[in-house]
Amino acid sequence: MSPDPNRAVELDLDERPFTERGSRLLVTAGPDGLRVARAEYETRLADTVELTGLVLRDAAGHPLPVRSATPAAVEFVGGATLLFADPATLVLTGHGGHASWRLPDGTGRALALDGCHVLHGPPGEWSAAAVRAAAEARWAAWFARMPAVRPDLAPAAATAWWTLAVNLLPVAGREGLVPSKYGYVGVWNWDALFHAVALRHADPALARDQILLFLNHQLPDGRLPDVVHEHGVLADTTDLPRADHARLAEHVGSANGARPAAGPVPVTKPPLAAWAVWKVHLTDPDLPFLAAAYPRLVRAHRWWFAASDPDGDGLPEYLHPYSSGLDDSPVWDYGPRAEPPDLNSYLVLEADRLADIADALGRPEEAADWRTRAAAHAELLVARRWDGTRFTTLAAGAPVPVRTALDLMPLFTGRLPAGIAAALENTLRSPAYWGERPVPTVAFDDPAFDPEAMWRGPVWLNVNYLLIEGLRRSGFADTAEDLRERTLAMVRDGGGLYEYWNPLTGTRARRATSGFGWSAALFVDLAAEG
Ligand code: GLC
Repeated sequence: MSPDPNRAVELDLDERPFTERGSRLLVTAGPDGLRVARAEYETRLADTVELTGLVLRDAAGHPLPVRSATPAAVEFVGGATLLFADPATLVLTGHGGHASWRLPDGTGRALALDGCHVLHGPPGEWSAAAVRAAAEARWAAWFARMPAVRPDLAPAAATAWWTLAVNLLPVAGREGLVPSKYGYVGVWNWDALFHAVALRHADPALARDQILLFLNHQLPDGRLPDVVHEHGVLADTTDLPRADHARLAEHVGSANGARPAAGPVPVTKPPLAAWAVWKVHLTDPDLPFLAAAYPRLVRAHRWWFAASDPDGDGLPEYLHPYSSGLDDSPVWDYGPRAEPPDLNSYLVLEADRLADIADALGRPEEAADWRTRAAAHAELLVARRWDGTRFTTLAAGAPVPVRTALDLMPLFTGRLPAGIAAALENTLRSPAYWGERPVPTVAFDDPAFDPEAMWRGPVWLNVNYLLIEGLRRSGFADTAEDLRERTLAMVRDGGGLYEYWNPLTGTRARRATSGFGWSAALFVDLAAEG
């Protein structure tokens, strides 16, 4: 890592804006100066602009461009500096020259620089030196907690670590880590679990908070909402933003004419909460946390069998694309409910983790019961869905032809018969999925494969991470290590912490957002292993 933690990350004021932990304000560069906008749930930044066209000039009127932008400060040629005095307050400090900018109503503002001025935020008196020292101390303290990584991964890990800090916002009375201040300004269910996986290394209490934020918003029927945001929760289709309905109508059922379901449908995310709770507990044992989480995890687990298994065959289905977390996966081209093999794989693992938690809480009989369920569920998955060569994906109860990375997820259970586990590992290492940058979310040779389109081909770090764990659990340590190395190299060389990557080029896919929380979190966690 850089010897000066405040300079460990270069902000480009585009993909990496100047922003702060806890602040909704983003400072980015525009064609005519800097722009300040607010990150809000489901709102375009263009609609939340606070000021724009911020330019500094010297006494002769010559522009003073930005000289450097780091987590702690934006410095201009000539010595003026832009700083966060607190999450709601941006100050400009310096002497000589002046600053000018425009407000959203088009009116201009200007000031002669002479000390420490509030640029945006409530009026107040600030000391430039104190604000600067506090910003540097904050960032030094955050970077001091970054897990150690090897030198070639240090720059990307520092950017990831910065991302995790600035994506923290006050949500529902806690500090929640949002997936991105560009476009995903709320706390999403499985994102929060992946975020917790990284935060456990630095701040286990903050990691537990990500999980509790969801468990404390559990619905009366036991399900966990898809999103918790500043105005409430997204827990069924009536909570969806209007634009989402239109987007879903375009592709759900596009291959066979099946229509999106009518009426409200519950919306959640894949069941991985017990997995995350146990990981955090292993890093920082906390029995009261386990005791608080356990009954909620049990109810969340039961919900899938009680409310999300329409044909009652003991193998739950996703009732909405968003519940799978794989919004536009070709699995959904075949109808509004689907059962790719990942869901029941997660449920098997959840039962095993509930067993671990029950054991830790001194309830060995419950633990034994969960293990029996995990074994029976894994057997059912194999008996009903293994066709001799692959696990089938069903849509509305019928097998569909698409081949996705989810087909390999039964490895995650660690409970497959050896021959089946070996066949899956073999498939993963075949040209269908293996390349310089595995794992494409849709097989390279599937007709639906599109390297740029979200869940229709690009590489996502959560899928790779879960498969790495599954390979280890199933006895394929070498392939797990190979996949880990290739995943780390892709991020290291790709230029940013994107939402997803084009597997053919290793670059950001066109519509992928940047500063993405789980990419940052899982990269750090994988890199921290050495
Ligand atoms: C997208 C992803 C989903 C994720 C959400 C927030 O909708 O498809 O899996 O949870 O963004 O990052």
